Amino acid sequence: MFDDLDALSRAAADEVVQIARAAIAARGACAIALSGGSTPTRLFDVLAQRGRSAAPWDHIDLWWVDERTVAPDHPDSNYGTARAHLVDPLALAPGRVHRMAGEHTDPDVAARAYEDELTAALGAPPVFDLVLLGMGADGHTASLFPGSPALAERTRFVVANPVVSPLVRGTATRITLTASALSAARHVRFLVAGADKAQTLAAVRAGPRDRYPAQLVEGPDVVWLVDRAAAAAAAAAAHREDPRS
Ligand code: 6PG
Repeated sequence: MFDDLDALSRAAADEVVQIARAAIAARGACAIALSGGSTPTRLFDVLAQRGRSAAPWDHIDLWWVDERTVAPDHPDSNYGTARAHLVDPLALAPGRVHRMAGEHTDPDVAARAYEDELTAALGAPPVFDLVLLGMGADGHTASLFPGSPALAERTRFVVANPVVSPLVRGTATRITLTASALSAARHVRFLVAGADKAQTLAAVRAGPRDRYPAQLVEGPDVVWLVDRAAAAAAAAAAHREDPRS
């Protein structure tokens, strides 16, 4: 547990660099899948501030866990956010930045094209070295929202997912990795900050494990990096059970 988003982001940046260096030492390459939303933006800024020499960026390929169906220069674009806070400041090679075509008139075509690119590069299922995930207050991750069709997908690795949620301001179609793709990763790091997520985080961690999309992400190394505000409900529940905690 970290005091705040800044401390969480600095720790996450350390893990990105450590996992990347180990991947490159072992296999000569590193594939990282980024989330959108607001939480990772601070991490992007920390990585950018540390400079290009702080990580083996020449051997890191960036992918996305999801994308909104908007143009890359739209304020809601996950790629656009990473470009502004990480890709451009570090002048990363365009050939190593693999965005989803959110602007495509047919999101299903865009999803299938991304799956083809991804599986050609990382296999089937695509094995990322690191997947960075967030979690919404409803327990969604990537664009796997409660009640959305993509939750039941067991064969595809990238799909267009029609979402109905107040968190997408009504209805929206998102392009998203499926739970199969997320769970094939060597390392998964959830970054969760803020009091608005505390109740859901406590429920996600306590179980049962069939209630929230974030619980679908499994794998050999899934670690939650949370700040004190997001951890508060779980800490309170633990204290009620054991006042010594
Ligand atoms: C997106 C993200 C999404 C995000 C959560 C948390 O496209 O929005 O991929 O899954 O991680 O919604 O968002 P915040 O970090 O803004 O709370």
